[in-house]
Amino acid sequence: MTKHKTWRLGVAGLGTVGTGLLTFLADHAKYAPAGGQAVVTGVSARSRSRPRPFDISGLPWVDDPVALATSAEIDIFVELIGGSDGPAKAAVEAALGAGKPVVTANKALIAEHGAELAVLAEAKGVPLLFEAAVMGGVPAVKIVREALVGDDIRSIAGILNGTCNFILTEMEATGRSFGEVLGEAQRLGYAEADPTMDVGGFDAAHKISILAALAFGCAPNFAAAEIEGIENVDLLDIQLARDLGYRIKLVASADRSSDGVLVRVHPSLAPLAHPLAQAGGALNALFIDGARTGRIFIQGPGAGAGPTAAAVAADIADVMTTGTRPVFQVPASQLEPFKPVDPAKSIGRAYLRLSVKDEPGVIAAVSETLAEAGVSIESFLQKPIENAPAILKGGVPIVLTTHAVAESVLKAAIERIAALPAVLDRPRLLRIARI
Ligand SMILES: NC(=O)c1ccc[n+]([C@@H]2O[C@H](COP(=O)([O-])OP(=O)(O)OC[C@H]3O[C@@H](n4cnc5c(N)ncnc54)[C@H](OP(=O)(O)O)[C@@H]3O)[C@@H](O)[C@H]2O)c1
Repeated sequence: MTKHKTWRLGVAGLGTVGTGLLTFLADHAKYAPAGGQAVVTGVSARSRSRPRPFDISGLPWVDDPVALATSAEIDIFVELIGGSDGPAKAAVEAALGAGKPVVTANKALIAEHGAELAVLAEAKGVPLLFEAAVMGGVPAVKIVREALVGDDIRSIAGILNGTCNFILTEMEATGRSFGEVLGEAQRLGYAEADPTMDVGGFDAAHKISILAALAFGCAPNFAAAEIEGIENVDLLDIQLARDLGYRIKLVASADRSSDGVLVRVHPSLAPLAHPLAQAGGALNALFIDGARTGRIFIQGPGAGAGPTAAAVAADIADVMTTGTRPVFQVPASQLEPFKPVDPAKSIGRAYLRLSVKDEPGVIAAVSETLAEAGVSIESFLQKPIENAPAILKGGVPIVLTTHAVAESVLKAAIERIAALPAVLDRPRLLRIARI
């Protein structure tokens, strides 16, 4: 790649992150890592006239992000539109096709189309960088792709969605329901008007799919992720889990074994003293377990204009200062096909909450059924509840945790328990995080 004194940036997407980046660049008018200077020579968004926290009237406007991506007036294309397809994908493909380095914050795009984009970028010999796509301002991508490339990463697990973490933290702190806290998060701007990507676990799944590809040298495969969001986390379970010494977090994990790779997102129990349980509010936190290095823990703000724009600016600096690394852990042509592990084979501990008739013999019946199904109980909690919530359907709650058991065995046991006459509703299953 030619060395430039001045690097001309085309920025498509002028929302939270885009205007955050423009503000950063304006505050650092001489943003000049290693001597080269970054200057914005084109911007694009949906509406030219929409009021923005940054005045764009002095910047050259291009209606079509694809035209900006291929413009002769830019050297680096910065994609901050979002979405796995549509204009973001078209513009990134066009920029790479035109041999322009791309910096993006778009986790959906990289998780769903990263492998094909990597082929395109590497064929053209240009970087495709996405530090801001995972954990916002926390340099998770760099740590996994670059700093730990000399290790064999075995597993990654953490909290990758700040909105969900905020909601779960508030539910526990204030005793309010999921719906009430979500409404407040939307009013405060922590949650989108359509919160599905966040609370449904899809955003965390995009991020962990990217980390899996970086860590394990496989093609990212969002479609293979097993995803459960936090919409059905009930306050009762938060309180009962706490009584057992746990806190419920939305945990995203990627594990590699000889069978392949398992990528999952689930509301999971973390022991109260564990760093993941301690990461409250909108924080993100991540454990990386390497065969040589052991466990590394990183934590910080996973979103917001400032932290995310800082990560985008760091990628721009990388384009300006260094050569081109593979987009993922290894060159695109050497990425292993993603070999998914059947989640039914995964082994772990579990939390089960049952609503049962308040009559003698119920606990014995549940215990016997679980034992017959091959599930061993670790702890049992029966707690009288004042003002029993409607989800108990007039019954009393019993809660138990299991020893490690294969998911298929556990699911079969749940079916048998659900069929017991004294059990009033399907047992609620939550995993205990393997952290
Ligand atoms: N927000 C965060 O904290 C954060 C953190 C990490 C990563 N990210 C990622 O960063 C990216 C941007 O997020 P954001 O929060 O900044 O989003 P945002 O505030 O919704 O901004 C999106 C921008 O894209 C523009 N846009 C939307 N559709 C377009 C189209 N069809 N053609 C041209 N422009 C279009 C919008 O134009 P108008 O302004 O004219 O409507 C807006 O400027 C996403 O990939 C997101 O996942 C965000």
